[in-house]
Amino acid sequence: MSQILRILNGEVVGELDWDLRPGSTYEMHLDVHHAHRRQGIGRSMFEELEGLVKSYNGMSIYSFCAGDNQKARGFFAAMDFQSLLVEDFYGKGRNAYFLWKQVGRPA
Ligand SMILES: CC(C)(COP(=O)(O)OP(=O)(O)OC[C@H]1O[C@@H](n2cnc3c(N)ncnc32)[C@H](O)[C@@H]1OP(=O)(O)O)[C@@H](O)C(=O)NCCC(=O)NCCS
Repeated sequence: MSQILRILNGEVVGELDWDLRPGSTYEMHLDVHHAHRRQGIGRSMFEELEGLVKSYNGMSIYSFCAGDNQKARGFFAAMDFQSLLVEDFYGKGRNAYFLWKQVGRPA
């Protein structure tokens, strides 16, 4: 696992972790401290990862979130991810969204 961090006044206010998966695709998960949301921290960490993935000639980035996580859905939509609803992923009535963004193309 690799990490991208944002630190403010000595405290971690944002964390994005990522791993390379088969097929030159990258899995990511991110969290921003609740008191520092909607300040562009998530976007800046994601854009840093996207730049890295492009420099590695990676194909895509994916993530997932709970079906009722409106904040994450808004964020991933703003980052131009596509989404797929997976019903009952976390158990009966507990849905998930699978989220992905293509960043490169096969040579
Ligand atoms: C999702 C999360 C990481 C967003 O981080 P953030 O630093 O607040 O996001 P940003 O400020 O960079 O937002 C970028 C854009 O995403 C969209 N967005 C972010 N939060 C949103 C929300 N609550 N509702 C709707 N859209 C949202 C907006 O378009 C926003 O741009 P704007 O503020 O100019 O309108 C943050 O809410 C979080 O940590 N949530 C809990 C953990 C989580 O759900 N992680 C995702 C699962 S991997």
